[in-house]
Amino acid sequence: MNNGVIGIFDSGLGGTSIWKEVASVLPNENTIYLADSKHAPYGKRSKEEIISLSIKNTEKLLNLNAKVIIVACNTATTNAIDVLRNSYDIPFVGIEPAIKTAALKTRTKKVGVLATQGTLSSRLFNETSDLYAKEIDVIEVVGTGLVELIESGDIDSPEMRSLLNSYITPLVQKNIDHLVLGCTHYPYLLPILNELLPQTTVVIDSGEAVAKQTKNILDKHQLITSQTTKGTHSFYTNKEITPLKNILAGVSFRHTVDYLDF
Ligand code: SIN
Repeated sequence: MNNGVIGIFDSGLGGTSIWKEVASVLPNENTIYLADSKHAPYGKRSKEEIISLSIKNTEKLLNLNAKVIIVACNTATTNAIDVLRNSYDIPFVGIEPAIKTAALKTRTKKVGVLATQGTLSSRLFNETSDLYAKEIDVIEVVGTGLVELIESGDIDSPEMRSLLNSYITPLVQKNIDHLVLGCTHYPYLLPILNELLPQTTVVIDSGEAVAKQTKNILDKHQLITSQTTKGTHSFYTNKEITPLKNILAGVSFRHTVDYLDF
């Protein structure tokens, strides 16, 4: 047992989609979330920059008593998780590309992946794709501009709809039956995606799988909290706090949102 916190970081607001699943599966655990919105989007940065930002976030979470760290960002996972795992003693949970699930289930043998440039060009993504989706037509689309709009609190606007429409329509025309959301910001776009995609298209995001994996890792390392009451959840951003507050509005878990310089 260990009463440290579950540390979570993302390039900004998107990883809160992962946090919600984690808090549901592990309700007594305390969590600390770092939104590195000052440096978003990571998807446009070099591998070296992504690694150095991921180390900065990890160091901060370790100072805040993290017992495990969830890298709630596809771009940071695919570019930096090996370095983190090799550099620190605590376990790391990453957002591995959900392409395997889609490749196993597709009937049309055509799968769409919407992700950042940083994720799509990473070695981990391409190895996963080669390993599990060799026989499948994987159609990759870079979601240019989506993270920036979400970070500014703009989740549903004519601009967002038109951008998404331009990314999704070609995928529909190519007859994909699964769409992998390769960025933790994108689950916030599900209402619009569901309007743009045929009802039969399955959208896959990683939240539930990451929450289950976190629980398994805590069990395996005997790190489950001894706390028998509901956990507390602290959110920190290094930019304006309003977009983070807004994205968490309505969640039922007790939480605080504050500015932190990191
Ligand atoms: C980004 O910061 O560019 C997106 C984060 C992600 O890949 O999940």
